[in-house]
Amino acid sequence: MKIFVPRDATAVAVGADEVVTALEQIAQQRGLSIEIIRTGSRGLHWLEPMIEVATPGGRVAYGPVGTEDVASVLESMANNGPHALRLGIADKIPWLKRQTRLTFARCGVIDPRSLDDYRAHGGYKGFERALSLGPDAILNEVTASGLRGRGGAGFPTGIKWKTVAQAKADRKFIVCNADEGDSGTFADRMIMEGDPFLVIEGMTTAGITVGATKGYIYIRSEYPHAVEAMNAAIKAARRGGYLGDKIGGSTYSFDMEVRVGAGAYVCGEETSLLESLEGRRGLVRAKPPLPAHYGLFGKPTVINNVLSFAAIPFILAEGAKAYADFGMGRSRGTMPIQLAGNIRHGGLFETAFGVTLGELVDDIGGGTFTGRPVRAVQVGGPLGAYFPRALFDTPFDYEAFAARDGLIGHGGIVVFDDSVDMRKQARFAMEFCAVESCGKCTPCRIGSTRGVETIEKIINGERVAENLALVGDLCNTMKFGSLCALGGFTPYPVLSALKHFREDFIPAPTTLQAAE
Ligand code: NAI
Ligand code: SF4
Repeated sequence: MKIFVPRDATAVAVGADEVVTALEQIAQQRGLSIEIIRTGSRGLHWLEPMIEVATPGGRVAYGPVGTEDVASVLESMANNGPHALRLGIADKIPWLKRQTRLTFARCGVIDPRSLDDYRAHGGYKGFERALSLGPDAILNEVTASGLRGRGGAGFPTGIKWKTVAQAKADRKFIVCNADEGDSGTFADRMIMEGDPFLVIEGMTTAGITVGATKGYIYIRSEYPHAVEAMNAAIKAARRGGYLGDKIGGSTYSFDMEVRVGAGAYVCGEETSLLESLEGRRGLVRAKPPLPAHYGLFGKPTVINNVLSFAAIPFILAEGAKAYADFGMGRSRGTMPIQLAGNIRHGGLFETAFGVTLGELVDDIGGGTFTGRPVRAVQVGGPLGAYFPRALFDTPFDYEAFAARDGLIGHGGIVVFDDSVDMRKQARFAMEFCAVESCGKCTPCRIGSTRGVETIEKIINGERVAENLALVGDLCNTMKFGSLCALGGFTPYPVLSALKHFREDFIPAPTTLQAAE
């Protein structure tokens, strides 16, 4: 019997390793012959550890499986019999079936340590087509796909690559930003742990397109499983001839290595990340010059998020149109959306742009975990705006969110129920900025601390109207005067809290005042 158990950090955190031990022990006691394959996660986090067994009709899933369930689950697997935790054919689980998994097609399916498994599931098909196309045609494909940077800013990937391709230099670099720091986000981690060759393939394709022979993937230290998975995949890709000289039997060379960050949110900002890669403290550099012109070690550098690189193999394998056919407006393709916080069905949901926030939270996410009404959702990480229910008709699209003073960022959605105190959330945004600020510019370094103090005064009921005006003024200064997105975007959560949840900031009138 072939049994699939995720090795993804989420599954491991809720007991996947213990389930493996129990499976091995009980199978041995019963004389059952089993083969356990460790995969990534399918992303249905409330069902983890979700384990699967291969059957002639497809893989049958069970979840959430605890060690106490293993004996009966094994029996059900062996007899193809009923079980309370049996979820049916994994691919037919409605939550999975209604997704459009272009980037996450293999995540949770294949063995992330096996290059053969990756290739058997369509891996390196895009790269092989890329080799036959050559750099100019690859650039045309990436541009035509409409892919935009999935780190958050949504800058067109084709234009970024073209800038680097056209730059004249003796060396160029490919850097993958895997410093996934946004609250409620885990898509980068999941893909690195569940389908690491995909990231390598995307980076390698970028390398041959722009003329870079060396790549770095900068992974946050909080992601030890991803570091391990990427290192193992890099070694396997080298052994398989997909990294190093004459990759994939071509005349191109490309190799890459993992670098681990030391745990600063601001190192997810691209110039700060480059400083850190070069061995210095993660201080933001002023732009211009752009990294595309003057990046790592002063050389032209493509720096993209994990998900941007991970989208490339599909685009090249299936063609730009197959990707661009999904989505709305200028947001083409799919977005791996991450549902987190106080939500019943949290996890990874990849879908075409255009789905509304309400569908994501109420329908797909199933409302709150606590069962209380949803009051607010923060979209796009700690620098994203809080949206009230009144804005749940907003489609998931870069421009639609921007039009409502929000951002989709890296696709993280954090849900809050009606017990949330939005004054505390506004204070937290300023505090987060104060703690994580690199200190280079005054609006962020000083402004965030003043912001914390002023919001505290509001919470304590001190000169509320005056301090609210002061916070608005301060946000304006931070928004327009900060050097990077950390200081510049902190006003989004603060101002959205003030705008949409004003009642939390204004003290309720006393009975006497109300009577007047
Ligand atoms: P940006 O708008 O300055 O730049 C976007 C990207 O396009 C950069 O890589 C930049 O170098 C490149 N670029 C701009 N003009 C170019 C040109 N003419 N040619 C070539 N390349 C060009 O945005 P920034 O500051 O890099 O990112 C801000 C975003 O980061 C925010 O929207 C936020 O959502 C997101 N973010 C993501 C986090 C995460 O954990 N993934 C954490 C914090 C923020
Ligand atoms: Fe540093 Fe903050 Fe200025 Fe960004 S906005 S450069 S994090 S001080």
